[in-house]
Parts: sequence; C-alpha cells; structure tokens
Amino acid sequence: MNLDLSTLEFDASPLCAARLDALDPLRHFRDRFALPPDTTYLCGNCLGPPARAAEGYVQEVLASWSRKGFRAHFTSPENWLSYEAQHLTAFMAAIVGAEPHETTLMNSLSVNLHLLLVSFYRPEGRRRLILVEDGAFPSDQFVIDSHLRLRGLESETTLLRLERAPDTGLLDEVELQRVLEARGDEIALVLLGNTCFRTGQVLDIAAICAAAHEQGCMVAFDLAHAVGNVELELHRWGVDFAVWCTYKYLNGGPGSLGGCFVHERHGREVPLQRLEGWWGNEPSSRFPGALRATFRPAEGAAAWQLSSPPIVAMAALRPSLGIFADAGMSAIRRKSLLLGAYGISLIDTWLPGLCRVLTPREPSRRGCQLTVAVKADPRELQTWLIERGVVCDAFGVDKIRIAPAPLYNTFSDVHRFVTRLAEYFGRTADSSTARTASAPSPMPQRAKPLSPFSNTHKE
Ligand SMILES: Cc1ncc(COP(=O)(O)O)c(C=O)c1O
Repeated sequence: MNLDLSTLEFDASPLCAARLDALDPLRHFRDRFALPPDTTYLCGNCLGPPARAAEGYVQEVLASWSRKGFRAHFTSPENWLSYEAQHLTAFMAAIVGAEPHETTLMNSLSVNLHLLLVSFYRPEGRRRLILVEDGAFPSDQFVIDSHLRLRGLESETTLLRLERAPDTGLLDEVELQRVLEARGDEIALVLLGNTCFRTGQVLDIAAICAAAHEQGCMVAFDLAHAVGNVELELHRWGVDFAVWCTYKYLNGGPGSLGGCFVHERHGREVPLQRLEGWWGNEPSSRFPGALRATFRPAEGAAAWQLSSPPIVAMAALRPSLGIFADAGMSAIRRKSLLLGAYGISLIDTWLPGLCRVLTPREPSRRGCQLTVAVKADPRELQTWLIERGVVCDAFGVDKIRIAPAPLYNTFSDVHRFVTRLAEYFGRTADSSTARTASAPSPMPQRAKPLSPFSNTHKE
C-alpha cells in the first residue's frame, strides 16, 4: 500500500481539520450514506449507517414481491434465484481478496462459524487443540464451547489460549509464533478474531497462515471487524476459512447477512463433514423431479449454504458493496490510517494522563477503530458525549471505542470528538498551544508540504 504517514501535515486547529477534509479524495462518498442528523457518528464498528440507495433497492424488492409473487424468483428483471451472484458476489469477493466461488453471504456470523467448524475442525491423533485468543468475542466462545461439547470434548483440555497483555489487552504475535513452533503438531485449528474487537489490533494474517500451515494446522479468522476496514487477501494468504458480518463496516443493516470464505482447495475436497441444506446443492438439481433428492454440492463456498437467501436483506446490503467498489479498498485504507493517526495525535496532545490509546500505533497493526482507556466511567462519558451529538461506544470498565470510517467520517468528526472529550475532562482543546505534530510515534516532528492523501509515497 502506498502511504507515508510522515507526510501528514496538521496541527490541532479545527481549520486544519477542515483543510484535511477539503483535500480528502473520498469526501464525496459521505453523501451516499444516511447518517443520523446533527450527529458525529463514530460507531461503524458496531453498526454502519445505511447507504442512501438502500431504501430504493429494498422498495424495489418489495414492489416486485407484491407485483409478481414467487415468479420474481425466476423471471427478469429480478431473477431472485441468482440475486447474490448478480449483485453481490463479485463485490464481496473483491473486498476480502477472494475468488468469487470462495465466498458466500448467508445466515449470520455465529451460525456460519458453527457450520464451518463442523467441516474444518478435524481432531486426529495427537492433533486436537484449537488455538484461540483469550477473551475472544463472547459469541465465538459460546460457539466453540458448544461445538466441542457436541463432539464429546471439553474446552478446558481442547482450547489453547493465547494470553493478552494485562495493561493493553494486545496479543503478542511473537508469542503466537512461538506457540505455533512449540506446539504446532498438537494444534488442529488456529481460530482468531482479527481485527480485535477489544483493542482494534490487526494481526498479520499472512504470517500466521504461513507459520500455522508449516505446522500442518488449519487457520481460520472471525473477520467481523476487519471486513471493509482493512485490506484482505484471503485467497493469496491461504486462509482456510473465515466468517464475518456485514452490519459493521459494510453497512448492510442491523442483523444483516453473514459472510464466509472457504479457500478453493477445500471447495473441491470430497468427502467432507458438512451440514447440508437444499441451497448448498448444485443449482441445476435443487428442484428434483424425483421424490428422493441426492445432495450434489455446489462449487466452492456455496456448498455450505443451507436455505434460500433473504432477498430483502441482500437488497439493503447491495448499494454499500457498490460504494466500496467505487472507492476502492486501498483508498479507503489510506484515509483510515490518516484519520487514526490524527485521532491518536489529538488525544495524546490534549489528554495526557486522562485518556490513553490502547490500539497499536503502527499503521500495519491498526484499522479504523481506536480503543481508548479513559479515567472515567465509560458509560457516563458515552451518555455525556451522546447528549452533545457524538456517538461512540462504551466498553468494559474503563474504555471507549471510536471507529472513524473513511467512507463517511471526516477529520472534522475526529476533531469534534476529541474536543468534546477534552471538555468532559475539563481540558480546553487549545489549538494555539497544542501542536499535534509531535505526538504519536508515526507522526512527523515537522510538517511537510505534501498532500497527506498523496499515493506516491511508501508506507
Ligand atoms: C467479533 C465478533 N464476532 C462475532 C459476532 C457475532 O455476530 P452475529 O451476531 O452476526 O452472529 C460479533 C458481533 O458483533 C463480533 O463483533
């Protein structure tokens, strides 16, 4: 990726935020989202706002439904039977760096994790362990625990937990590599959340895959907080399977569809343990004339589908995926890193001793989300901020999370957030004294006369 954070030139004034916004090549994309009025919305890590076009796409499906009934499945222009293939698959695959037949949209994240564990957790002989992170997302923990119980196994003896640093909650990737080297021959599956929902830490998927595969382990990721946030190359990195949701950075709507990736080398494997349903059957024989149906798996990830797809939910997601294609993940990522560096810098400068950014500062180790430890009750702080039009998320006993999303958030949004935060703590966000340029490690000491959005510089 082309970016040089050292070219980022700014100070702490609101004028500077406005100037950065004016330079931002993605600034027009904000108009394509319906954001809560009079609000600085920084919660795309929880629920992304709808694309403005979503309402029209959903209305279109509702209109066809009432006009044509079930015939809309088979007739033009709707052809709902192939709605995913027509309108979503290629966009979704591009966002995660997959071949189209390696991804599918179905169910929700937790359900998909269950389905894929059935196929890809294959304990055998000495190789029985699942390497997980300590404090994985609660739903993932429940899925894994109940899955193990179903197989007559116990979490206590089957899970190998990678510990977090007690002060920051970060995972140590060197330790992860060490565990893989030391105990790789006991590990059947490495299953990690990435980007980490707690800290915003981004793990190096390529390095984890390489090390785990060398030891003969399968590698899987919960990408709920990575998809649409960081650039992914799931096919090239050789990830075995991955699951994600589409309601955060992909703006698909509350409870919208889950996504999954199955590397093509597994999509061709037969036989495999798999829970099956008619939608995983190869399309031409989904409606058999004979009374007794025979399951013939569809190609690739589609073979894990169970049920007919929810077209209304797909219609709500459709325009957002198109926006990602129009903007391009590398431009999105470039702006994300700048927004993050800007936020870190303002917090460091204005709130030392009161707020501490726990998210790693290195660009390759963070995405949109910043997790901030605060010397305050986070829920009280969150309520105070919401009352002043800034929406962030309260987390744990001493943290808040913000996720400036490049497609609809601005540098002014970040500035407003930190200004309000400073007000809460009784600090004046004094732009004349607070020079941001020296604050976080990737920031420059001296401003340079280059556009921060230039793509001609190396990260
Ligand atoms: C990291 C992570 N994993 C899993 C889930 C659960 O997703 P779902 O409710 O779609 O099953 C979430 C939901 O927010 C999440 O953030």
